[in-house]
Amino acid sequence: MPHLLHLDSSADPRSSASRGVTAAFVQGWQARGAEFTVTSRDLQADPPPHLPDAALHWAPRLRTAEEVVDPAAEAQQQVYLDELLAADVLLVGAPMYNWSLPSTLKAWVDHVHVLGVTVPFGDFEARPLAGRNAVIVSSRGASYDAGGEQASWDHTVPPLELVLGRSFGMTVSVITLQLTLADRVPAMADLRDRAAAEADAARSFAQELAERLTT
Ligand SMILES: Cc1cc2nc3c(=O)[nH]c(=O)nc-3n(C[C@H](O)[C@H](O)[C@H](O)COP(=O)(O)O)c2cc1C
Repeated sequence: MPHLLHLDSSADPRSSASRGVTAAFVQGWQARGAEFTVTSRDLQADPPPHLPDAALHWAPRLRTAEEVVDPAAEAQQQVYLDELLAADVLLVGAPMYNWSLPSTLKAWVDHVHVLGVTVPFGDFEARPLAGRNAVIVSSRGASYDAGGEQASWDHTVPPLELVLGRSFGMTVSVITLQLTLADRVPAMADLRDRAAAEADAARSFAQELAERLTT
C-alpha cells in the first residue's frame, strides 16, 4: 500500500500557508484510492525534543563504549525513524523562520539523520530511502526569487535538500509560496495579487503532484 508521511511545522494554527498546501497534497494523495494511506505528524502540536544526546547521530553499533544512551530517548528516536522508513513518500511543511527551519522541524531532522541507519557509513552502504520521493512545501513572508539580492538568504530549503536528497538519496520536489506577509505588511500591499496567485498555484501544483507521484 503506498504510504505518505505528512509533516507540518508551522506555528500558525489560524492561517498557515504551508499547512494549506500540504493539505492540498494530502487531498490529492487520498483521491487516488483507499490504499493511499497517510500518517500525519504535527511537529508544532507535538514537538520532538532537541536531540538529547549526540550519540543518537550514530547507529547503536557505531557508538563508542562511553556512548550509553537513555533508552527512552532511543525509543523516541525509533518512533520517528520507523515512521520515515515506512513512508513511500515524505511531505514536509517547512515555513521560513528567521531564514531557516522551524526548530521543531530541525529537531525532527536531527533525530532521523542517523549514520549507519538512514545514511551510509563505513561498510554500511545501504540507503534505505534512496529513490523515494520527498516534497518540501516552503512558505515565506518575503520574496527570494532566483537572481534577486535575497536569493542566497534562504536557509530553509537548502539544508532539507541536502539531508533528504544528498544524504538520504530521495528525489526531492520543492514547492514554494512567497510573499505570504503581503496581506499584513502595508509596504507589501502592491504585492497582494502576486501573493494570492502564488498561493493558488502552489495548492494546485501540490494536488496535481500528489495525484501523479510514483511510489
Ligand atoms: C518566527 C518567525 C520568523 C520568520 N522569519 C521570516 C524570515 O526570515 N523571512 C521571511 O521571508 N519570512 C519570515 N517569517 C514569515 C513566515 O515565513 C511566513 O509568515 C510564512 O507564511 C510562515 O508559514 P505558514 O504560513 O505556513 O505559517 C517569519 C515568521 C515567523 C513566525
